[in-house]
Amino acid sequence: MKLTIIGTGYVGLVTGACFAEVGHSVICVDNDLKKVELLRGGGIPIYEPGLEDLVKRNVASGSLSFTGSTAEGVEKSDVVFIAVPTPPQPDGSVDLSYIERVARDIAGAMTSYKIVVDKSTVPVKTGEKVAETIKRYCKAKVDFDVVSNPEFLREGFAVEDLMKPDRIVVGVGSQRPAAAMRELYAPFNAPIIVTDINSAELIKHAANSFLALKISYINAISIICEASGANVEEVANGMGMDARIGRRFLNAGLGFGGSCFPKDLSAFIKIADTLGYDFQLLKEVQHINADQMERFVKKLTDTLWVLKDKKIGVLGLAFKQNTDDVRMSPAIDLCQRLLKEGAAIRVFDPQAMTKAKGVLPPGPTTTYVAEMNEVATGCDALVVATEWPEFKLLDLDRARHAMTHPILFDGRNLFDPAEMEKRGWVYKSVGR
Ligand code: UDX
Repeated sequence: MKLTIIGTGYVGLVTGACFAEVGHSVICVDNDLKKVELLRGGGIPIYEPGLEDLVKRNVASGSLSFTGSTAEGVEKSDVVFIAVPTPPQPDGSVDLSYIERVARDIAGAMTSYKIVVDKSTVPVKTGEKVAETIKRYCKAKVDFDVVSNPEFLREGFAVEDLMKPDRIVVGVGSQRPAAAMRELYAPFNAPIIVTDINSAELIKHAANSFLALKISYINAISIICEASGANVEEVANGMGMDARIGRRFLNAGLGFGGSCFPKDLSAFIKIADTLGYDFQLLKEVQHINADQMERFVKKLTDTLWVLKDKKIGVLGLAFKQNTDDVRMSPAIDLCQRLLKEGAAIRVFDPQAMTKAKGVLPPGPTTTYVAEMNEVATGCDALVVATEWPEFKLLDLDRARHAMTHPILFDGRNLFDPAEMEKRGWVYKSVGR
């Protein structure tokens, strides 16, 4: 099928590349012409395992192309995806101006029937607005259908999640676009759930909020574990073996961050409020998440007493493993708190150092270290802030000897407490 995807951010680019890979003909549109040039030349603006190969291969075969022109994309395709940003506003609601702009642009370029698919994460009832807008601005007065098709990819696993989805959600206002959407997704061999548009939009916010709730739940349990001498990992394992609960997203730590969970929670609380429901449960999820960071910093001050003039090594800057994304990263938040307390930090991340420099500038108290095993040099304490699996390969003996005293605060529970103690470390983790 012929598709156009408007917006080449995380969702748009990965979706476009995966659709091309399974045999569709895909045009990706972006108004950032520098990005279009970069992509045409084989460059990838984000770090995402497997993406570069996918883009290069499909550009070379001619099934994936890039343009700055929405009109060209709309004209040449039957299905047009909207995958533009929906950033948060200061009051927690979503800025839908990019969506509205694109809806008008699509409407202006339409000269025949199109299926317009919203892939961006939007509050419930946005599809209705998109349909109204297209109707109002379509001079050619041609027929169209609006579809909601939320994306559930995780950064760092985006290609995998796209190619092997748990389910595809398709929200339609009539049966007409449903057949085309089924054909589009047939190569992925995944269950397809066809709902009304409002339900599809709600599924996305409800699913992400539930995952965030799971994380806050286990973080709250971690507090009780610390107070009672239990081990949160064992509790999570025991809970997770109940198939109704599941073990995933039950890892206690510094809390969740990234460009999705914090934003989606705020947006969901806001839209619920607009619809007349005070979503206190989700407000508590936010509260527990913020509290988790406070508690972790307190662990540092309880042990190190004064942080001023202390040198602290921080492993991890990305908001989670396998990504270079530092948006709303708990690791960055932690670094900023340490700096505010007067500490000097030595930081390392396998992928996110370039992006981190934009929000955490190098300077007299912030040293970027090129090699993981050099981070500990001269430090009073080490902190693990991101769950990169390679941190487990840290040369613990070398680090121990390079520090004034071997203290490790593990904000992601990567190391084994008994093993750390045996190797001479003062080791503090979360809920264990
Ligand atoms: C999330 C959803 O998983 C995805 O389905 C949605 O489409 C976009 O939002 P993403 O933000 O890429 O994806 O990352 P995810 O893997 O969900 O992790 C989010 C945050 O939660 C990270 O900061 C991570 O460190 C934290 N997390 C995750 C935990 O603290 N504990 C866990 O058990 C799992």
